[in-house]
Amino acid sequence: MILYFAFASCFLCLATANCVGGSTENERKPYIVYMGEVPENGARISAMDEHHNLLLKAVGDEDLARESKIYSYRKSINGFAAWLLPDEAKRLSEEDGVASVFENTKRKLLTTRSWDFLGVTESSNNIHGSVESNIIVGLMDTGIWPESPSFNDAGYGPPPATWKGKCDKGANFTGCNNKVIGARYYHLEDFSGGPDEPTPVDTDGHGTHTASTAAGIPVKGSSLNGIAKGTARGGVPSARIAMYKVCWSEGCSDMDVLAAFDDAIADGVDLISLSLGGDSTGYFNDSVAIGAFHAMRKGILTSCAGGNGGPTLETVINVAPWILTVAASSIDRQFISTIKLGDGTITSGFGINTFSMKNKMYPFTDGAHATNVTGDFYYGNISACDSGTLDKDKVKGKIVYCLGVSGQDDSIRMLDGAGTIMAIDELTDHYSLALIPATVVVRSKNGDKLDRYINSTKNPEAVIYKTRTVHMDAPFVASFSSRGPQLTNRNILKPDVTAPGLNILGAYTQLTSITGDPTDRRYSAFNIMSGTSMSCPHASAAAAYVKSFHPDWSPAAIKSALMTTATPMKIKDEFEELSSGSGQINPTRAVNPGLIYDINESSYISFLCKEGYNRTTIGLLIRGKHKYNCSSFKPALGFDGLNYPSMHIHLSGTESRISAVFYRTVTNVGGENLEIKAKVTAPKELSIAVIPKTMKFKRKHQKKSFKVSVKGGSMKNGTDILSATLEWRSNKGHSVKSPIVVFKQHHRFDFGSFP
Ligand SMILES: *[C@@H]1O[C@H](CO)[C@@H](O)[C@H](O)[C@H]1NC(C)=O
Ligand SMILES: *[C@@H]1O[C@H](CO)[C@@H](O)[C@H](O)[C@H]1NC(C)=O
Ligand SMILES: *[C@@H]1O[C@H](CO)[C@@H](O)[C@H](O)[C@H]1NC(C)=O
Ligand SMILES: *[C@@H]1O[C@H](CO)[C@@H](O)[C@H](O)[C@H]1NC(C)=O
Ligand SMILES: *[C@@H]1O[C@H](CO)[C@@H](O)[C@H](O)[C@H]1NC(C)=O
Ligand SMILES: *[C@@H]1O[C@H](CO)[C@@H](O)[C@H](O)[C@H]1NC(C)=O
Ligand SMILES: *[C@@H]1O[C@H](CO)[C@@H](O)[C@H](O)[C@H]1NC(C)=O
Ligand SMILES: *[C@@H]1O[C@H](CO)[C@@H](O)[C@H](O)[C@H]1NC(C)=O
Ligand SMILES: *[C@@H]1O[C@H](CO)[C@@H](O)[C@H](O)[C@H]1NC(C)=O
Repeated sequence: MILYFAFASCFLCLATANCVGGSTENERKPYIVYMGEVPENGARISAMDEHHNLLLKAVGDEDLARESKIYSYRKSINGFAAWLLPDEAKRLSEEDGVASVFENTKRKLLTTRSWDFLGVTESSNNIHGSVESNIIVGLMDTGIWPESPSFNDAGYGPPPATWKGKCDKGANFTGCNNKVIGARYYHLEDFSGGPDEPTPVDTDGHGTHTASTAAGIPVKGSSLNGIAKGTARGGVPSARIAMYKVCWSEGCSDMDVLAAFDDAIADGVDLISLSLGGDSTGYFNDSVAIGAFHAMRKGILTSCAGGNGGPTLETVINVAPWILTVAASSIDRQFISTIKLGDGTITSGFGINTFSMKNKMYPFTDGAHATNVTGDFYYGNISACDSGTLDKDKVKGKIVYCLGVSGQDDSIRMLDGAGTIMAIDELTDHYSLALIPATVVVRSKNGDKLDRYINSTKNPEAVIYKTRTVHMDAPFVASFSSRGPQLTNRNILKPDVTAPGLNILGAYTQLTSITGDPTDRRYSAFNIMSGTSMSCPHASAAAAYVKSFHPDWSPAAIKSALMTTATPMKIKDEFEELSSGSGQINPTRAVNPGLIYDINESSYISFLCKEGYNRTTIGLLIRGKHKYNCSSFKPALGFDGLNYPSMHIHLSGTESRISAVFYRTVTNVGGENLEIKAKVTAPKELSIAVIPKTMKFKRKHQKKSFKVSVKGGSMKNGTDILSATLEWRSNKGHSVKSPIVVFKQHHRFDFGSFP
């Protein structure tokens, strides 16, 4: 039971936002003291000594300073984690050399885990290659189960010569191979008393699943108990995997994430994939944004899950401009289970049922008929089958019809029921993986009919069949996928792209059951999971694929290639670009985008100056450079101040007119003599001018700048979003698209927070 309840407490804990320790003023809590970049070699004093001296100054006692330090970061990220009192943390934040001090928070995995539900994917792209086998994808996750058939290293040579990583030992971990070339764990707090053990092995399933989605080898005939049968394979099946285990039963600590970034950058990974996140605003008090910034400076792109806070607006996370932020969309299959009634009626429900009832009819009842509650006492909601309202004798061996999908399967199982049909008011795109034979119906569609059958029949009977796969129209953005606008910089569109994240078949660990429930006896080498956790490794793999063709491209160039070649959703959302960004990744097209919107390090710095970060902070970020003074950087031009591949105007709602100018520079990667022509598609409310409209590039890597001005009147009441597109079409057939989005803020978007 331990693992199961540990997860439950994790979600509770995260929901209350204060996970670490108590809240008294006198209690030491873990803080991260971020000091920017490690000083150049030859600095007078080592980073370790610098950390100790600072800590000593803050806590005032040599022994205490030594005891309170948890960790030093000193490879490329400079800083340390320590147990501090709030006033010590505050004092430290005022010290020279300190960029920021922030309390360690716990981030969570971005699966829809407790509502896990099932589906299938086969990667859309069929990719192989010997260059690809030199690519190393680094993942920060729950560890890895290397024995999975997805990580079989037959035919792989030794790790690339550039690899400097390690393979930690630990309980139930059989070790690395030539596929999984690195596996380390980070758990800077004490293990004692907790359910976790010091090992890089995956006892959760999430890390094995994401790693196989990014770089698993093709495994024919994979399925979850026969459902979603097909070939499971990663986006870059020849690439190598390096796992950094930072997530444990209680979440993923900032200080562990930062330590993993520091190592991954030094180890020589080509890309970093993170399917985790938490609430954060600001760039330098967020471990993921900080880690990704240092990775970017070393030419490594970080791809992150955009969060599962949808469909509410303003929920997107991991939004720093140097991160690729990934939404989740559907693939073209869904899962249906046939229901047959005693009178021969056939209907169907949604969600995955791995169980077979062997075509045998079971007695069928509902909460009202199976209750033991009499009189006026209130013991819960009878029709929702709340535990405590039902009589075990009336449930035993029966299929029970219940309103709602909030753990009814577990309640019915406890009373020895045979199965449950759960009814909801509105169809959504994902449902939990149930613990007993179960399916989900919509009340108005067939739910009420089922219940009327129970009410009007003497001996009602039913059977739920094992799930089958049916085709559906796709892609669309999953309901749970977080939406923009982002809260840190409202004028940069996030998420950037979307990738499949609904019902993804991937490798799974054998160290836990498919639901994570210890009483569940179903184990499987493959499982079906949903979440931006699942879409992120698809995008990471696509980025790795592009990098295998263009090893010299910067992180921003790779990101631009993925964004400008993405495909718009077939089924549109009301706030389309706030859901899917530039659209669904198309790795094959991204290899030859024609143009890229590149962003170098100094452009990010100018951007940060424009964002109001002063020379003290910026000086620390790039210590190695001598001139780190905002006025020595060319000021960031234009509305957003960054050469971003998409354009977003966020109106507070009080503006009388729309007016913004974006300055952009494109680099020719489409070969010699490339000619391009701008094509703007815009609604009548917007007038968009691109200057110049045509450009000619003689040489490869030549850069040309242009200006986009967007004008319009005040947005009509009732209009929240205006969507336009700039497309550069080349004489060689390239189409380089950027969404241009105007969004007007309304208070009515405050729907409250989702669970
Ligand atoms: C490792 O395996 C042993 C025996 O199978 C088990 O008792 C233990 O809980 C496992 N540890 C982990 C981390 O799964
Ligand atoms: C992080 O920084 C941002 C802006 O710099 C600020 O708004 C936010 O409150 C900070 N968050 C924390 C946890 O310190
Ligand atoms: C109804 O049955 C449940 C389960 O058998 C039991 O826990 C509960 O106490 C009973 N309630 C009443 C009112 O008898
Ligand atoms: C019981 O739960 C169902 C489903 O959530 C709901 O429609 C119904 O109104 C609830 N009944 C009561 C008495 O709360
Ligand atoms: C079936 O009967 C129960 C108990 O009388 C009642 O609560 C429920 O609403 C009925 N269902 C339908 C669809 O009429
Ligand atoms: C970085 O990019 C900016 C804008 O394109 C350019 O002006 C600058 O020269 C570049 N800096 C370096 C070091 O390449
Ligand atoms: C920069 O900002 C920090 C924190 O807001 C402040 O302590 C410092 O004095 C500022 N430095 C300059 C040069 O403005
Ligand atoms: C910052 O740079 C500007 C222009 O290069 C220079 O005039 C100014 O003195 C510099 N400030 C500092 C504190 O170095
Ligand atoms: C639009 O809505 C605002 C606030 O509800 C209102 O004050 C304004 O008069 C409306 N404008 C028009 C043109 O209807």
